[in-house]
Amino acid sequence: MDSARTPAFFLGRVPVYGDALLAPMDGFSDWPYRSICRSLGAALCYTEFVKAEFVVMAFEHIQPRMAFEEDERPVIIQIYGDDPDELLRAALLVQQKRPDAIDINLGCPDRRVNQGGAGAALLRQPLKVARIFRALSAALETPVTAKIRLGWEDCRNYRLIARILEENGAAAIAVHARTREQGYGGAADWDAIAEVKAAVRIPVIGNGDVRAVADIARMKSHTGCEAVMIGRAAIGHPWIFARLDRSQVPPETARQMIHCHLRRNLQFYGERKGLLFFRKHAIQYLKHQGFPRPERTQIIQQTEAQAFLDLLDAAYDRLASVRPAERGEEQPLRY
Ligand SMILES: Cc1cc2nc3c(=O)[nH]c(=O)nc-3n(C[C@H](O)[C@H](O)[C@H](O)COP(=O)(O)O)c2cc1C
Repeated sequence: MDSARTPAFFLGRVPVYGDALLAPMDGFSDWPYRSICRSLGAALCYTEFVKAEFVVMAFEHIQPRMAFEEDERPVIIQIYGDDPDELLRAALLVQQKRPDAIDINLGCPDRRVNQGGAGAALLRQPLKVARIFRALSAALETPVTAKIRLGWEDCRNYRLIARILEENGAAAIAVHARTREQGYGGAADWDAIAEVKAAVRIPVIGNGDVRAVADIARMKSHTGCEAVMIGRAAIGHPWIFARLDRSQVPPETARQMIHCHLRRNLQFYGERKGLLFFRKHAIQYLKHQGFPRPERTQIIQQTEAQAFLDLLDAAYDRLASVRPAERGEEQPLRY
């Protein structure tokens, strides 16, 4: 799987081969999807975030979010919280699962998360950030990483935060180049990623506005970052890790991938949840395939996996019988 001989960077002592990583995405970056992204060339995947309090309370429902297979390594489990002691207790428990790194979320803009002082709210408390990373890096053998934003509109303190993270033992920093208020819209500020890169010696992972394959190299050359983290552009399009844009994926390849992904979902979550959780992926896979909306809706609303697949196959068969010009495609598909 590891295509390059020279690691793009190290997480502590763990080499990471490749420069495109799957972002942590709540509701998406689960084992079925991470395994697919890894097999297509993602150098590393983050899990969905997990609340530190829930780890400490040993809640059963969060266990699947932290599950990974040995052949998926390197893998980073992400946790969030605001209480340094609780984060430490949670990280020690997560360490028992032997991930390659444990990431602390300092970027989530969700009000419910921020009201408790976690996610992007931590960026407003640099001293607390120092305390958290000092404690975790001293107590854990597993490397500790951070995923940050640029700050808040009234406090774009990303350089300060980055230096604090490095000084207190962080093994790498992922920078989502937007402020908390920007949420997921507006332009990502790649200059800021370059500033973080210039401010620290630990590996920097750039994130934000990577929409197509060419953006990976563009972000790297603009910022000097070691690797690029891809979120939304990978949903329904894991082939971005194989360096293919959407127009380059043959419909038959997409059809087979949808089968494979659904199969893994059913295996991981069971019949009912597997199909339910697959819907949001299916929406994104099918969106760009040239199917009329009512057809997509009908497929996605199926409550039995076999009925879903039967309708899907019929739709692809119909698509194959229609000439590309009639499908409204601007570019012929490259096989
Ligand atoms: C549906 C969704 C869920 C997300 N969940 C998380 C999460 O659990 N942890 C985290 O650090 N960031 C999370 N993010 C943010 C992404 O990791 C990433 O920083 C952001 O989407 C910007 O990258 P992109 O432009 O490539 O999508 C999430 C984003 C989306 C769209």
